[in-house]
Amino acid sequence: MTGPDFEHFCRLVKDRSGLVLTAHKGYLVESRLSPLARAEGLAGVPQLLERLRLGGASVEPLLLRCVEAMATHESFFFRDGTPFNLLAGRVLPQLVEARAATRTLRIWCAACSSGQEPYSIAILLKEMGGQLAGWRLEIVATDMSRPILKKAEEGFYSDFEVRRGLTDARRDRWFVRDGHGWRVSPELRSLVSFRPHNLLSDSLPGVFDVVFCRNVLIYFDVEQKRAVLQRMARTLAEDGGLFLGSAETVLGVTDAFELTPGASGLFRRASGKAARTA
Ligand SMILES: C[S@@+](CC[C@H](N)C(=O)[O-])C[C@H]1O[C@@H](n2cnc3c(N)ncnc32)[C@H](O)[C@@H]1O
Repeated sequence: MTGPDFEHFCRLVKDRSGLVLTAHKGYLVESRLSPLARAEGLAGVPQLLERLRLGGASVEPLLLRCVEAMATHESFFFRDGTPFNLLAGRVLPQLVEARAATRTLRIWCAACSSGQEPYSIAILLKEMGGQLAGWRLEIVATDMSRPILKKAEEGFYSDFEVRRGLTDARRDRWFVRDGHGWRVSPELRSLVSFRPHNLLSDSLPGVFDVVFCRNVLIYFDVEQKRAVLQRMARTLAEDGGLFLGSAETVLGVTDAFELTPGASGLFRRASGKAARTA
Protein backbone atom coordinates (compact mmCIF):
# COMPACT_ATOMS: atom_id res chain seq x y z
CA MET A 1 0.00 0.00 0.00
CA THR A 2 1.43 3.39 -1.01
CA GLY A 3 0.25 6.83 -2.13
CA PRO A 4 -0.61 10.17 -0.52
CA ASP A 5 -3.55 8.86 1.56
CA PHE A 6 -1.41 6.08 3.02
CA GLU A 7 1.47 8.48 3.75
CA HIS A 8 -0.92 10.96 5.35
CA PHE A 9 -2.31 8.19 7.57
CA CYS A 10 1.21 7.09 8.60
CA ARG A 11 2.01 10.68 9.63
CA LEU A 12 -1.21 10.94 11.64
CA VAL A 13 -0.52 7.65 13.44
CA LYS A 14 3.00 8.75 14.33
CA ASP A 15 1.86 12.18 15.55
CA ARG A 16 -0.97 10.74 17.65
CA SER A 17 0.68 7.62 19.09
CA GLY A 18 4.39 7.53 18.27
CA LEU A 19 3.89 4.28 16.32
CA VAL A 20 6.01 4.31 13.18
CA LEU A 21 4.44 2.76 10.09
CA THR A 22 6.46 2.35 6.91
CA ALA A 23 5.55 1.33 3.37
CA HIS A 24 6.26 -2.34 4.11
CA LYS A 25 3.60 -2.22 6.88
CA GLY A 26 0.90 -1.74 4.24
CA TYR A 27 -0.41 -5.27 4.83
CA LEU A 28 -0.86 -4.40 8.54
CA VAL A 29 -2.82 -1.24 7.76
CA GLU A 30 -4.99 -3.23 5.33
CA SER A 31 -5.76 -6.01 7.82
CA ARG A 32 -6.27 -3.79 10.90
CA LEU A 33 -8.45 -1.20 9.15
CA SER A 34 -10.59 -3.53 6.99
CA PRO A 35 -13.20 -4.12 9.75
CA LEU A 36 -13.44 -0.36 10.35
CA ALA A 37 -13.88 0.33 6.63
CA ARG A 38 -16.66 -2.28 6.49
CA ALA A 39 -18.35 -0.83 9.59
CA GLU A 40 -18.31 2.60 7.93
CA GLY A 41 -19.99 1.13 4.83
CA LEU A 42 -16.96 1.88 2.65
CA ALA A 43 -15.72 -0.24 -0.23
CA GLY A 44 -12.31 -0.79 1.40
CA VAL A 45 -9.30 0.59 3.23
CA PRO A 46 -8.22 2.96 0.40
CA GLN A 47 -11.62 4.71 0.68
CA LEU A 48 -11.24 4.90 4.48
CA LEU A 49 -7.78 6.47 4.17
CA GLU A 50 -9.15 8.95 1.64
CA ARG A 51 -11.97 9.90 4.00
CA LEU A 52 -9.44 10.46 6.82
CA ARG A 53 -7.37 12.74 4.56
CA LEU A 54 -10.29 14.76 3.22
CA GLY A 55 -12.57 14.70 6.24
CA GLY A 56 -10.97 17.41 8.41
CA ALA A 57 -12.06 17.71 12.04
CA SER A 58 -15.35 15.84 11.48
CA VAL A 59 -13.53 12.50 11.14
CA GLU A 60 -11.75 12.87 14.49
CA PRO A 61 -13.59 10.01 16.32
CA LEU A 62 -13.03 7.70 13.34
CA LEU A 63 -9.37 8.70 13.21
CA LEU A 64 -8.98 7.88 16.91
CA ARG A 65 -10.38 4.37 16.30
CA CYS A 66 -8.07 3.91 13.31
CA VAL A 67 -5.00 4.97 15.32
CA GLU A 68 -6.00 2.63 18.17
CA ALA A 69 -6.50 -0.19 15.67
CA MET A 70 -2.85 0.12 14.62
CA ALA A 71 -1.53 -0.67 18.12
CA THR A 72 -0.39 -4.19 18.98
CA HIS A 73 -1.87 -5.35 22.29
CA GLU A 74 -0.01 -8.64 22.76
CA SER A 75 0.58 -9.28 26.47
CA PHE A 76 0.58 -12.11 28.96
CA PHE A 77 1.10 -12.74 32.65
CA PHE A 78 4.69 -12.53 33.95
CA ARG A 79 5.88 -11.88 30.38
CA ASP A 80 9.59 -12.73 29.93
CA GLY A 81 9.99 -13.81 33.58
CA THR A 82 13.20 -11.88 34.32
CA PRO A 83 11.70 -8.43 35.04
CA PHE A 84 9.29 -9.94 37.54
CA ASN A 85 12.07 -11.97 39.19
CA LEU A 86 14.15 -8.79 39.45
CA LEU A 87 11.21 -6.85 40.83
CA ALA A 88 10.44 -9.45 43.50
CA GLY A 89 14.03 -10.45 44.31
CA ARG A 90 15.89 -7.17 44.08
CA VAL A 91 13.94 -3.96 43.48
CA LEU A 92 11.09 -4.44 45.95
CA PRO A 93 13.27 -5.65 48.85
CA GLN A 94 15.49 -2.54 48.39
CA LEU A 95 12.47 -0.24 48.27
CA VAL A 96 10.86 -1.87 51.32
CA GLU A 97 13.98 -0.96 53.28
CA ALA A 98 14.28 2.52 51.78
CA ARG A 99 10.59 3.41 52.29
CA ALA A 100 10.30 2.05 55.86
CA ALA A 101 9.44 5.54 57.14
CA THR A 102 6.70 6.41 54.62
CA ARG A 103 5.44 2.83 54.03
CA THR A 104 4.26 3.89 50.58
CA LEU A 105 5.02 2.38 47.18
CA ARG A 106 3.82 3.78 43.85
CA ILE A 107 4.24 1.80 40.64
CA TRP A 108 3.38 3.03 37.15
CA CYS A 109 2.67 0.40 34.52
CA ALA A 110 2.65 2.35 31.24
CA ALA A 111 1.20 0.86 28.03
CA CYS A 112 -0.39 -1.87 30.14
CA SER A 113 -2.58 -3.25 27.33
CA SER A 114 -5.17 -5.77 28.58
CA GLY A 115 -3.90 -5.72 32.17
CA GLN A 116 -1.81 -8.88 32.54
CA GLU A 117 1.28 -6.83 33.40
CA PRO A 118 -0.16 -4.70 36.24
CA TYR A 119 -1.99 -7.73 37.68
CA SER A 120 1.29 -9.72 37.61
CA ILE A 121 2.92 -6.89 39.59
CA ALA A 122 -0.04 -6.87 42.00
CA ILE A 123 0.40 -10.63 42.57
CA LEU A 124 4.06 -10.07 43.50
CA LEU A 125 3.12 -7.33 45.98
CA LYS A 126 0.46 -9.56 47.54
CA GLU A 127 2.90 -12.46 47.74
CA MET A 128 5.22 -10.32 49.87
CA GLY A 129 2.52 -10.71 52.51
CA GLY A 130 3.36 -9.39 56.00
CA GLN A 131 6.33 -7.35 54.78
CA LEU A 132 3.91 -4.89 53.18
CA ALA A 133 1.09 -5.15 55.72
CA GLY A 134 -0.27 -1.69 56.44
CA TRP A 135 1.57 -0.10 53.49
CA ARG A 136 -0.10 2.23 51.03
CA LEU A 137 0.37 0.42 47.72
CA GLU A 138 -0.65 1.90 44.40
CA ILE A 139 -0.29 0.50 40.89
CA VAL A 140 -1.36 3.00 38.24
CA ALA A 141 -1.85 1.26 34.90
CA THR A 142 -2.23 3.32 31.74
CA ASP A 143 -2.68 2.86 28.01
CA MET A 144 -3.69 5.16 25.16
CA SER A 145 -6.32 2.70 23.91
CA ARG A 146 -9.67 3.00 25.70
CA PRO A 147 -11.08 -0.33 24.42
CA ILE A 148 -8.08 -2.28 25.70
CA LEU A 149 -8.19 -0.40 29.04
CA LYS A 150 -11.83 -1.42 29.39
CA LYS A 151 -10.82 -5.08 29.06
CA ALA A 152 -8.03 -4.55 31.58
CA GLU A 153 -10.41 -2.93 34.06
CA GLU A 154 -12.89 -5.79 33.72
CA GLY A 155 -10.09 -8.18 34.69
CA PHE A 156 -11.74 -11.12 32.92
CA TYR A 157 -9.50 -13.64 31.11
CA SER A 158 -10.19 -16.78 29.08
CA ASP A 159 -8.68 -20.16 29.99
CA PHE A 160 -6.15 -19.62 27.22
CA GLU A 161 -5.11 -16.19 28.51
CA VAL A 162 -4.78 -17.43 32.06
CA ARG A 163 -2.63 -20.38 30.95
CA ARG A 164 -0.18 -17.93 29.37
CA GLY A 165 2.12 -17.19 32.30
CA LEU A 166 0.14 -18.15 35.39
CA THR A 167 0.75 -21.31 37.40
CA ASP A 168 -2.37 -23.17 38.53
CA ALA A 169 -1.53 -22.18 42.10
CA ARG A 170 -1.45 -18.47 41.27
CA ARG A 171 -4.59 -18.75 39.15
CA ASP A 172 -6.50 -20.46 41.97
CA ARG A 173 -5.22 -18.02 44.59
CA TRP A 174 -5.78 -14.73 42.75
CA PHE A 175 -8.61 -15.42 40.28
CA VAL A 176 -12.20 -16.55 40.62
CA ARG A 177 -13.88 -18.95 38.14
CA ASP A 178 -16.49 -16.98 36.19
CA GLY A 179 -18.39 -18.86 33.46
CA HIS A 180 -15.89 -19.90 30.79
CA GLY A 181 -13.09 -17.73 32.16
CA TRP A 182 -11.43 -16.30 35.23
CA ARG A 183 -11.95 -12.96 36.95
CA VAL A 184 -9.26 -11.14 38.95
CA SER A 185 -10.12 -11.38 42.66
CA PRO A 186 -11.38 -8.17 44.31
CA GLU A 187 -8.33 -8.29 46.61
CA LEU A 188 -5.96 -8.06 43.64
CA ARG A 189 -8.18 -5.73 41.62
CA SER A 190 -8.20 -3.15 44.41
CA LEU A 191 -4.44 -2.63 44.07
CA VAL A 192 -4.65 -1.44 40.47
CA SER A 193 -6.22 1.73 39.08
CA PHE A 194 -6.52 2.19 35.33
CA ARG A 195 -6.54 5.44 33.40
CA PRO A 196 -6.08 6.55 29.79
CA HIS A 197 -2.72 8.11 29.07
CA ASN A 198 -0.75 8.77 25.91
CA LEU A 199 3.03 8.41 26.29
CA LEU A 200 3.48 11.35 23.92
CA SER A 201 1.85 13.66 26.45
CA ASP A 202 3.19 14.80 29.83
CA SER A 203 4.09 12.09 32.35
CA LEU A 204 1.68 11.26 35.14
CA PRO A 205 1.77 13.58 38.14
CA GLY A 206 3.73 12.64 41.24
CA VAL A 207 6.75 10.44 41.72
CA PHE A 208 6.84 6.68 41.16
CA ASP A 209 9.16 4.15 42.78
CA VAL A 210 8.99 1.75 39.84
CA VAL A 211 8.00 2.27 36.22
CA PHE A 212 7.20 -0.53 33.80
CA CYS A 213 7.18 0.61 30.16
CA ARG A 214 7.60 -2.58 28.21
CA ASN A 215 7.17 -3.58 24.59
CA VAL A 216 5.89 -0.23 23.35
CA LEU A 217 8.98 1.96 22.73
CA ILE A 218 10.09 -0.65 20.22
CA TYR A 219 7.45 0.80 17.87
CA PHE A 220 8.67 4.44 18.24
CA ASP A 221 11.47 6.27 16.45
CA VAL A 222 14.52 7.36 18.42
CA GLU A 223 13.35 10.97 19.00
CA GLN A 224 10.05 9.79 20.44
CA LYS A 225 11.80 7.17 22.60
CA ARG A 226 14.15 9.85 23.94
CA ALA A 227 11.32 12.26 24.74
CA VAL A 228 9.29 9.56 26.55
CA LEU A 229 12.30 8.35 28.55
CA GLN A 230 13.33 11.87 29.55
CA ARG A 231 9.83 12.58 30.85
CA MET A 232 9.91 9.28 32.74
CA ALA A 233 13.25 10.18 34.33
CA ARG A 234 11.53 13.22 35.84
CA THR A 235 8.79 11.06 37.30
CA LEU A 236 10.91 8.22 38.71
CA ALA A 237 12.25 8.41 42.27
CA GLU A 238 16.02 8.83 42.50
CA ASP A 239 16.45 5.25 43.78
CA GLY A 240 13.61 3.84 41.66
CA GLY A 241 13.76 1.32 38.81
CA LEU A 242 12.61 1.48 35.21
CA PHE A 243 11.79 -1.75 33.40
CA LEU A 244 11.87 -1.85 29.59
CA GLY A 245 11.08 -4.77 27.27
CA SER A 246 13.73 -7.35 26.35
CA ALA A 247 14.26 -5.72 22.91
CA GLU A 248 14.40 -2.16 24.33
CA THR A 249 17.24 -0.14 25.83
CA VAL A 250 18.30 3.38 26.79
CA LEU A 251 21.70 2.91 25.13
CA GLY A 252 22.11 5.32 22.23
CA VAL A 253 18.76 6.93 23.11
CA THR A 254 19.22 8.97 26.29
CA ASP A 255 21.73 9.40 29.10
CA ALA A 256 18.96 10.09 31.63
CA PHE A 257 19.12 6.39 32.61
CA GLU A 258 21.90 3.88 33.03
CA LEU A 259 22.01 0.10 32.85
CA THR A 260 21.96 -1.93 36.04
CA PRO A 261 24.87 -4.39 36.01
CA GLY A 262 23.68 -7.98 36.04
CA ALA A 263 20.02 -6.98 35.65
CA SER A 264 18.98 -6.91 32.02
CA GLY A 265 15.90 -4.81 31.31
CA LEU A 266 16.27 -2.82 34.56
CA PHE A 267 17.46 0.79 34.35
CA ARG A 268 18.26 3.36 37.05
CA ARG A 269 18.18 7.13 36.83
CA ALA A 270 21.63 8.42 35.97
CA SER A 271 22.96 10.36 38.92
CA GLY A 272 22.27 14.06 38.65
CA LYS A 273 20.50 13.73 35.27
CA ALA A 274 17.00 15.04 34.52
CA ALA A 275 15.94 14.33 38.06
CA ARG A 276 13.16 15.73 40.17
CA THR A 277 12.13 14.20 43.48
CA ALA A 278 8.89 14.67 45.37
C1 LIG B 1 2.53 -4.82 22.97
S1 LIG B 1 1.52 -3.98 24.15
C2 LIG B 1 2.54 -4.11 25.57
C3 LIG B 1 1.77 -4.55 26.79
C4 LIG B 1 2.60 -4.80 28.03
N1 LIG B 1 3.36 -3.65 28.40
C5 LIG B 1 3.51 -5.99 27.85
O1 LIG B 1 4.72 -5.83 27.69
O2 LIG B 1 3.00 -7.12 27.85
C6 LIG B 1 1.73 -2.28 23.65
C7 LIG B 1 0.67 -1.35 24.22
O3 LIG B 1 1.14 -0.01 24.03
C8 LIG B 1 0.01 0.81 23.83
N2 LIG B 1 0.47 2.07 23.21
C9 LIG B 1 0.93 2.28 21.96
N3 LIG B 1 1.26 3.57 21.77
C10 LIG B 1 1.00 4.19 22.94
C11 LIG B 1 1.13 5.53 23.39
N4 LIG B 1 1.59 6.50 22.58
N5 LIG B 1 0.77 5.84 24.65
C12 LIG B 1 0.29 4.87 25.48
N6 LIG B 1 0.14 3.58 25.12
C13 LIG B 1 0.50 3.24 23.87
C14 LIG B 1 -0.91 -0.01 22.94
O4 LIG B 1 -2.25 0.43 23.00
C15 LIG B 1 -0.68 -1.42 23.52
O5 LIG B 1 -1.69 -1.77 24.42
